[in-house]
Amino acid sequence: MGEQAKKIVSVDLKDLIKDLNKAYCDEWLAYYAYWYMAKTVTGNGYEDISEFLEKIAKDELEHAQELAERILELGGTPIDNPIELEKNANAPYPKPPKNTSDYDKIVKVVLEAEAGAIDVYNKIAQKTIGKDHVTYQLICHILEEEIKHEEMFEDILE
Ligand SMILES: [Fe+2]
Ligand SMILES: [Fe+2]
Repeated sequence: MGEQAKKIVSVDLKDLIKDLNKAYCDEWLAYYAYWYMAKTVTGNGYEDISEFLEKIAKDELEHAQELAERILELGGTPIDNPIELEKNANAPYPKPPKNTSDYDKIVKVVLEAEAGAIDVYNKIAQKTIGKDHVTYQLICHILEEEIKHEEMFEDILE
């Protein structure tokens, strides 16, 4: 990151990079779980839920990419080993249910992960508001999508 760009960030850089890396790990875990459930889901009308899962999996992968870019811009390094992802994440792996046609459980797994993500990004937004405009803007963009994911899966329950 350039000298002037560094100067205008008025949060502790190490601390911020750590927060972003933790969120980065959450995103990979969510991506993997959603992608996996999209591929393996069975049962009546599985196509719809598979399509939803695939869509949000794609968003989570995009979030991981966006976070990686910001971590690098700030002079940090994204976690380089997938074995380290869960250890460094905010939340445990959103484990797909054994029963691949248990939609209630699938929805529960997603809603728990999304609630966690909303919490994490809300905290980072509060930490960066007025202090690091670029990170703040990125985090708000991601937060907006996590809120949409939650809504999408809450609607399935209805
Ligand atoms: Fe995400
Ligand atoms: Fe999400």
